[in-house]
Amino acid sequence: MQKIVIEGGRPLKGEVTISGAKNSALPILFATVLADGPVMLRNVPELEDIQTTLKILQFMGAKHSNGYPKSLKIQPTGLKHCEAPYELVKTMRASVLAMGPLLGRFHQAKVSLPGGCAIGARPINLHLKAFEQMGAKIEIEGGYVNAHVPGKKRLQGAKIHFDTITVTGTENVMMAAALAKGQTVIENAAREPEIPDLANILNKMGAKVYGAGTETIVIDGVDDLKGAEHSIISDRIEAGTFMIGAAMTGGSVTLRDTESLMVEALTAKLEECGAKVTVSPKDGSIKVEGPAGGAKNLKSSDITTAPYPGFATDFQAQYMAMMTVSQGTSVISETIFENRFMHALEMKRMGADIQIEGHRAIVKGVKKLSGAPVMASDLRASAALLLAGLVADGLTEVHRVYHIDRGYENIEKKFRALGARVKRAKVKY
Ligand code: EPZ
Repeated sequence: MQKIVIEGGRPLKGEVTISGAKNSALPILFATVLADGPVMLRNVPELEDIQTTLKILQFMGAKHSNGYPKSLKIQPTGLKHCEAPYELVKTMRASVLAMGPLLGRFHQAKVSLPGGCAIGARPINLHLKAFEQMGAKIEIEGGYVNAHVPGKKRLQGAKIHFDTITVTGTENVMMAAALAKGQTVIENAAREPEIPDLANILNKMGAKVYGAGTETIVIDGVDDLKGAEHSIISDRIEAGTFMIGAAMTGGSVTLRDTESLMVEALTAKLEECGAKVTVSPKDGSIKVEGPAGGAKNLKSSDITTAPYPGFATDFQAQYMAMMTVSQGTSVISETIFENRFMHALEMKRMGADIQIEGHRAIVKGVKKLSGAPVMASDLRASAALLLAGLVADGLTEVHRVYHIDRGYENIEKKFRALGARVKRAKVKY
């Protein structure tokens, strides 16, 4: 087991290049199952979750080159197992994204039910209901979802209305519908930037997907899809993590290879708190400058998480780290997941003043956090604890760093290059 050790007290200064988006690369990797030829992907981040996905594709019979992050070639022509096994799914719930492509192309899928998760129950009922509306029969047996279209026929296009906006639910249906017979309409679709990115590669493969990025997506099913080339969009959550880090350490960080449009809600909030955000008209890089003297000169401000283009739930933990040392009191309302405040309990161990009341956290800024050994509970919580360590007195140790390696490429290298004192170490016992 490993931990990340942070010595606090130094502002982040310099430039950082943002990697490809994990939450775009995952659905796009599963979408290669739909193609009858090789798919070349560029800007794929080097992450645990990507490795896990490649193992699942390999289990199914697809081959891949190891050229990432620059280029990753998937050869899906050898696919024969329409199954995502428990051993792999248990480490990554996004494996549910295998279902849509398998049902779309092979009219059957056997995927282990994703287990619980620290941030919430995260059911997949909306995915399964949509597949049933498209003609699939769904059975849950032995912890697996067995789905098949009777008579091995193709899925039928259908009108799908999501009661709750679901990102991977929208993606799963888009991929299933691409090869279904007839038209599928998705109403109340997710609008996250990863959705248009998936639609772009599906259309390059020959699909007919319209309206991605809006709340209504129309997909006209086609008979087959061919190989394509695509570069993954940059990771807006990684970008936001560094933007918050720059603001709360009173530093000055320029982010390269990112897209300011994807972080507008966070940008507005950081400016409201007193950080300065400048987007270069030349190359689109984003410069974030925190107030002189650091977080104590930041103002507190309330947030409520919401589906895109609202304030992303994946920024909530990192933003809370900033609020623990800002002036005044802020109310953080988490509306997407029912248990996404685990990081608050760890920050309290560092001296933060946080009261949890249901889905709201009331955060009173304190003068200083003190370094402490803390436990990461999920991907974004681990990043938030690392940020808290940057402004804490003394040493902070973030344990269970496998969470952070799932979603952040070379995280301590990138922070060290910005002047932070961060290193990885072995946990003794
Ligand atoms: C995606 O998860 C992201 N993961 C999450 O990022 C992100 O936090 C989340 O969207 C919200 O933006 C990937 O894209 C791989 P949802 P997803 O379905 O699709 C409920 C990270 O840190 N719901 O949009 O699983 C669900 O419980 C991760 O990178 C149902 O009730 O989230 C939640 O309350 C964490 N039934 C809400 O909808 C369903 O069938 C939104 O979940 C599906 C979802």
